[in-house]
Amino acid sequence: MSARILVFAGSARRASLNKRLAAVLSASIVAAGGEATLIDLADYEMPLYHGDWEADNGPPEAARRLNALLAQHDGLALASPENNASISALMKNTLDWLSRIDGGATLQGKAALLTAASPGALGGLRGLNHLRDILHTLGVTTLPQTLAVSRAHEAFAEDGSLVNERQRGQVDQLATRLIHLALALKG
Ligand SMILES: Cc1cc2nc3c(=O)[nH]c(=O)nc-3n(C[C@H](O)[C@H](O)[C@H](O)COP(=O)(O)O)c2cc1C
Repeated sequence: MSARILVFAGSARRASLNKRLAAVLSASIVAAGGEATLIDLADYEMPLYHGDWEADNGPPEAARRLNALLAQHDGLALASPENNASISALMKNTLDWLSRIDGGATLQGKAALLTAASPGALGGLRGLNHLRDILHTLGVTTLPQTLAVSRAHEAFAEDGSLVNERQRGQVDQLATRLIHLALALKG
């Protein structure tokens, strides 16, 4: 039995550093024996959550599509940008909409690996604490180990791989741990 992991970044920016990190996570998950589905939130455009909009329309089509995709997976691997010491509005909005479908039932019981990439010295580490709290509230079990790639504008080689060998090893180890956690939670 292999673990199916949905992978995305909390940035839709074309040159997103977190999208690059998400691609690295996806490759490591596959190398570790898991199945990875790498998506771009640019393909899941949702309005900013608003209760009146929801009352008039229900969850947006992109949220229902993403929820259906998530339902086919055992876990999440996230690359989360840090905005003003927290998570990006895109990541929060995506999670908020998912939490409004069947009371967030699809997220419950999933495993998650949290990572971040930032040009800054802390690599987006502070935002991961917020992301962990939010996901725990939604019933997601997160790996205690995280990875924050600092000076991320210098961290990737032309072929998309991480330049730093130690970080490459860390990602591989995290991918293996995520797969184990996802399979354990699946039961
Ligand atoms: C509004 C805003 C706030 C930001 N705040 C932080 C921050 O608190 N910490 C940090 O490391 N980087 C911060 N940044 C820089 C982002 O980490 C950087 O733009 C990063 O490349 C965004 O992720 P992406 O490349 O995946 O799009 C901020 C950027 C913006 C636009």
